Amino acid sequence: MEKNLKIGLFGFGCVGSGLYEVLNRSELIGARIKTIVVKDRNKERSLPQHFFSFDPNEILLDETINVVAELIDDSEAAYKIVTQALKAGKHVVSANKKLIAEHLDELISLAKENSVSFLYEAAVAGSIPVIRNLEEYYNNDSLTGILGIINGTTNYILTQANDGVGYAEALEKAQQLGFAEADPTLDVEGLDARYKLAILIKHAFGNTVVPEQIPVKGITGLRNGDVAYARERGLRIKLLARAERIGNELFAVVAPHFVTADHPTYSVSNEFNAVVVQALFSDRQLFIGKGAGSLPTASAVLSDISALKYDYQYEYRKAVEGRSPLVSESFSVRVLVSASMDADLDTVGLDEVEERYIGKGEQFVVGNVKYSALKNLFEQKELSVILFSDLPQVEEEIVVVETQYNS
Ligand code: HSE
Repeated sequence: MEKNLKIGLFGFGCVGSGLYEVLNRSELIGARIKTIVVKDRNKERSLPQHFFSFDPNEILLDETINVVAELIDDSEAAYKIVTQALKAGKHVVSANKKLIAEHLDELISLAKENSVSFLYEAAVAGSIPVIRNLEEYYNNDSLTGILGIINGTTNYILTQANDGVGYAEALEKAQQLGFAEADPTLDVEGLDARYKLAILIKHAFGNTVVPEQIPVKGITGLRNGDVAYARERGLRIKLLARAERIGNELFAVVAPHFVTADHPTYSVSNEFNAVVVQALFSDRQLFIGKGAGSLPTASAVLSDISALKYDYQYEYRKAVEGRSPLVSESFSVRVLVSASMDADLDTVGLDEVEERYIGKGEQFVVGNVKYSALKNLFEQKELSVILFSDLPQVEEEIVVVETQYNS
């Protein structure tokens, strides 16, 4: 049944102010913000001071407010707000990927116990409706992989680098445009994408994954020679987050990848995100949309709020106990490792070395590394590591899954 939604909004930054604007421009939704709570009394904002409160209880203890929109940066403060709101019987809409990735099972239980919804479409890939699609459309067991560009800031920086703009300048622009996190290390070190991937894995495959389990390498260690290597071969470097089911195991990683011109993410530029879903029967599907920025992200929050009008909640149908462990010895990935001339690339843990190059004070090796050794390789800060997006081992194993379906 349609509900009268009264919203308590926490945060009036990039996404919070965007939500205020999209709600004002979407008369059909019929949901209105009653109270806005912010932290900083002295910050200049687009609305007069009397629109804001500084006391969280003005929302949390207000019985007429039935929806909390949590759109703040600080994940610890967000944890308190969200848990209190759920316990108070309010629906919660959040865009806080760190909070969600780190506390998902607890928050799901809390929402269930209090018979309210906890929705977070805006937390992953901004405006792309990926979570609801994984929940509703791919609601069976046919998914074999989900991968893509799920951080707008790094894609912006990599796109600009391709056009000759330097790293520092591109990052500054991404900050000005409101794409980057308050602490942009989270973007450029791949941690933001890793939180998002952990959330996607829950909805795609049912596993609860602690973000730290997923090997991560950001874009800060990329070398000029890597970009030249890619350019000479018609490749591009993209920070991809990927989770692939191989037999009964899950391969998950966030790292720079070389992608070929026919790869679905090759032409996805700037703050756009792309999510590629691979499934047994529908084959490959691609979603592209703005993954960061005020109004695009607010549009996903708006969509969650409007879904509350008909009591929508995620059902986590694929969540099952006892899934196989994340780290597997049974497959390896092909990587390019590069470093300055004083590094010893013979000892970095590659199983087989296919090629070696030397050029302009840098050295490169291409070879295979076991998935279980990837974390260790990524942690060696002096090395740049880029994965090739092709995984022959994955192709073989997908056939195994298909056989199971046919039997
Ligand atoms: N900093 C994030 C990004 C914002 O660049 O993708 C959207 O989650």
